[in-house]
Amino acid sequence: MIIAIDGPAGSGKSSVAKIIAQKMRFRHINTGAMYRAVAWKARQLQVDLSDETGVAEVALNQSIQFVPGPEGQTVVADGEDVTSLLRSKTVDRDAAIVASLGKVREILVAKQRDMEKSGSIVMEGRDIGTVVFPRAERKFFLDATPEERGKRRFLELQGKNQEVDLDTIIEQIRRRDEIDRNRKVSPLKAAKDAICMDTTNLDLNEVVNQIMGWIEQAPTQIINRK
Ligand code: DC
Repeated sequence: MIIAIDGPAGSGKSSVAKIIAQKMRFRHINTGAMYRAVAWKARQLQVDLSDETGVAEVALNQSIQFVPGPEGQTVVADGEDVTSLLRSKTVDRDAAIVASLGKVREILVAKQRDMEKSGSIVMEGRDIGTVVFPRAERKFFLDATPEERGKRRFLELQGKNQEVDLDTIIEQIRRRDEIDRNRKVSPLKAAKDAICMDTTNLDLNEVVNQIMGWIEQAPTQIINRK
């Protein structure tokens, strides 16, 4: 079974996907981390991000694994734990550029499709329900206002003792939305058959409970209730 969870930055999809995967005992795949890992590696290798073929080669040669652990999932790229390295502002910006390169997307989408072979998954990203697994059994699209998403990001970074400014974060979120929604290849948009949830006024538990409710229903019931 494949559960696709898409949505913009800060929509809560990572936290939600993680809990849903735990509850369902499925693997959790964060595809954003795959774009981030390619962006991080390309910079390490000094590959210019405008060199689509060069970045695609980085994507092709990189091995990436998601390893569950007591403190959450770690992202291991070519044998190295890169989890915290992928959260920098530079990687934020670079990943959005890398994600707009068609050749890179082709490679990462193929890797993502391949992950189905090892069992049921909760896969989160931007194009899971539309491009990667259009036939996913369950599709969700989470959204929230840029202000709310900015606030969530702000609190998350503050919790990590990072010096942050709320207005700057909201502005960055708007800018990334713009890139993700308007890029030519696989722009961020809800699949026609996805259940769309505005999480602006919902807490994490409420979102998880609603999603679990939808998952436990038969697909036909879901279609009828939409
Ligand atoms: O979810 P995230 O912020 O970690 O994603 C990093 C970047 O990758 C972001 O610009 C959106 C992009 N992305 C994408 O285009 N397709 C995906 N399936 C996942 C992420």
